[in-house]
Amino acid sequence: MHGEPLVKPQTYIQSLISRVASLNKESSTKTLIVSCAPVLKDMIQTVAQLELHESIDLLEATDADMSGENILNVDSSINAVLIAATNPHTMNKIGKLCRGYQAADVPVVVIAGWPPPMTGQMFGAETTRSGNITVPGMFELAALYSRGGNKGDFLEFGSFQGYTMQCAYHAFERISKNNTRRFISFDSFTGVIGTKKDESFYDGSYATSETSFRFSNALAGIPDDRVTTVVGPFSVTLEDDIEKTREKIGPTEAAIVHIDCDVEAPAKLALDFVTPYLKQGSLLMFDEYDLHQADNTKGERSALRRWLKENPEFEVEPYRSYHSTARSFIVHKNNA
Ligand SMILES: C[S@@+](CC[C@H](N)C(=O)[O-])C[C@H]1O[C@@H](n2cnc3c(N)ncnc32)[C@H](O)[C@@H]1O
Repeated sequence: MHGEPLVKPQTYIQSLISRVASLNKESSTKTLIVSCAPVLKDMIQTVAQLELHESIDLLEATDADMSGENILNVDSSINAVLIAATNPHTMNKIGKLCRGYQAADVPVVVIAGWPPPMTGQMFGAETTRSGNITVPGMFELAALYSRGGNKGDFLEFGSFQGYTMQCAYHAFERISKNNTRRFISFDSFTGVIGTKKDESFYDGSYATSETSFRFSNALAGIPDDRVTTVVGPFSVTLEDDIEKTREKIGPTEAAIVHIDCDVEAPAKLALDFVTPYLKQGSLLMFDEYDLHQADNTKGERSALRRWLKENPEFEVEPYRSYHSTARSFIVHKNNA
């Protein structure tokens, strides 16, 4: 997943801290922010005037913390640990430090360097950059595209800590006063599963938890009941237990399908699963479509090509590409 900082870090941090403080006011709990970069710690301290927020503790991670030598003791008054990092992969490094909290199912969420859209306004500010569409901009466009007759839901295969889910949710919120679309997330939340030898990912990358995904969504202002989760490896939820999953999500039509599970095997399972929900005009989005130098035999690209061969009633028409490897397509259902 490739994101871009769309707002000034200062604005983002201010908004984040006030959101955390207001969540804590309701529950009288505390939140621990672990800063992995001194620049972020200073920024958080000064910009957010932390001394005014008793419900927020700030800790600066040491090199030993980052190398996995230490594990934080779990303090039961802490409702979430927010990792202020300069890139999301720090999650892998800091994972060990937060292992106690993760084991206790306390949310552990990366919050900086790759800012999630805290509010509709924050990420709506910039939909294009240097003439190219940004990731949030693509979701904005997708929502606008779907506004006409393209009713239906947003189905996402690979959600991690909710960044793109939040982009989609806020895009639909902005264009519709009465947004009744459903937002359905499919994810193991234990990281990528099904990587083949020559795919540039590894099983377990992007491991998080459903609790973290939901907390991140709450920080981004998404009411908890607006997002349905189907949790588990796709080989279970979309294959072995497919009928159970169809029953769980109930009748749906896909307005937008976002495939962001990085590698071919789960991407193909996702396409097979959504087939009955696709209709004329559904939008298919792939985050890693052009990975592997656009090799037709690899990754999400190969999954789509195989799926098209097996389902000749469908064609896809290129719509927009929206970062170095991401592409979207309009679905045509023949004889519809
Ligand atoms: C790159 S992350 C998704 C990023 C996300 N869209 C965001 O905005 O941050 C890939 C996600 O796909 C999930 N995933 C990959 N393979 C999977 C599989 N076989 N079954 C279930 N989930 C899988 C991982 O758990 C991970 O959360």
